[in-house]
Amino acid sequence: MKEGQESGSPVDATVAHNARVWNHWLSGKDHYAVDREVGDHVAGMFPIIRDVARADRAFLGRAVRCLAGEAGIRQFLDIGTGLPTADNTHEVAQRVAPTSRIVYVDNDPLVLTHARALLTSTEEGATDYIEADAHEPEAILREAARTLDFSRPVAVMMLGILNFILDNDDAQRVVRELAEATPPGSYLVLTHPTTELGGEGNVAAMKFWNENATPPITARSREEVTRFFDGLELLEPGIVSCSQWRPEANAFGEPAVVPQFGAVARKPSL
Ligand SMILES: C[S@@+](CC[C@H](N)C(=O)[O-])C[C@H]1O[C@@H](n2cnc3c(N)ncnc32)[C@H](O)[C@@H]1O
Repeated sequence: MKEGQESGSPVDATVAHNARVWNHWLSGKDHYAVDREVGDHVAGMFPIIRDVARADRAFLGRAVRCLAGEAGIRQFLDIGTGLPTADNTHEVAQRVAPTSRIVYVDNDPLVLTHARALLTSTEEGATDYIEADAHEPEAILREAARTLDFSRPVAVMMLGILNFILDNDDAQRVVRELAEATPPGSYLVLTHPTTELGGEGNVAAMKFWNENATPPITARSREEVTRFFDGLELLEPGIVSCSQWRPEANAFGEPAVVPQFGAVARKPSL
C-alpha cells in the first residue's frame, strides 16, 4: 500500500494505529512505515507479542468453531474486529453453519476501507460492518439490530478490545450493557492482555506503546478480567492463556503460554 493512499478518508499515516500494527504482527500487508517502526520496536522489547497476535487469532477460530458447532450459535457480534486477515469470524462460523449472521464493529478508518473483505457472506447467512466506538454499546446494539435478532442467542466477541477501555468501571459497564441486551444462551468471548503472565517486559512495552502509538492500552489482572464474567458461566477451562484454551492436538505437546487471557462464558437461563 502507498502511504496515505486512501485519499478522502481520515486515515492518519503519521501515528502508529493498533489495527495496523496488529496486522503487521500477523504478517499482513495493511500497514504504514510508522506502524512497522513502532511494531518492530515493541517486538524488540517484548518478542512474544507476535505469538500473542497469532495465538489470539487461533483462539478466535477455536472459540467460533465451538460456538457455531456444539453450542449451535448462529449470530456473532465481533467488536474490535481488526483488519481482515485469514479466517475472519464469518468465514469460520459460516464454514460450520452457512446461515450464520455476523456483525463487525471497529472504529479504525483503515478497517472501514477494508470492510468489503469482511462482507463476503454466504447467501444463506449475512454480514454487516458498523463503524462505532466500543465505549458506546447502545449505538452498537441499535445498528447491529439491522442484522441480528436480539431475541435469539448472540455471541458477543471482544478479542483484544477491552484493553482499549482504560477505566475499569467503564469497561465493566460496556460488557454489562452488551450482556443485558442478549438473551439467556448467549455467549461472551474475550481475550485480554495481562502483565500477570507478561511480566516486566510487557509493562515496558505497553509504556512505550502509550507514548508512541494510538489508542492507549492497559493490561488487567486475572481478578479484573474475572469480573467481566459476573453473572455468566465460564466454559471449561475457564480463564487461561488464550493459547491453552481447548488447544487442538499437535505433535509437539501443549502450546506455550502467551500473556493474553482467553475465555468463553454462557449467559445462563433465569
Ligand atoms: C488488538 S486488535 C484485535 C483485532 C481482533 N479482534 C483480533 O483479536 O485479532 C484491536 C482492534 O480494536 C480496535 N479498537 C480499538 N479501540 C476501539 C474502540 N474504542 N472502538 C472500536 N474499536 C476499537 C482497533 O482498531 C483494532 O482493530
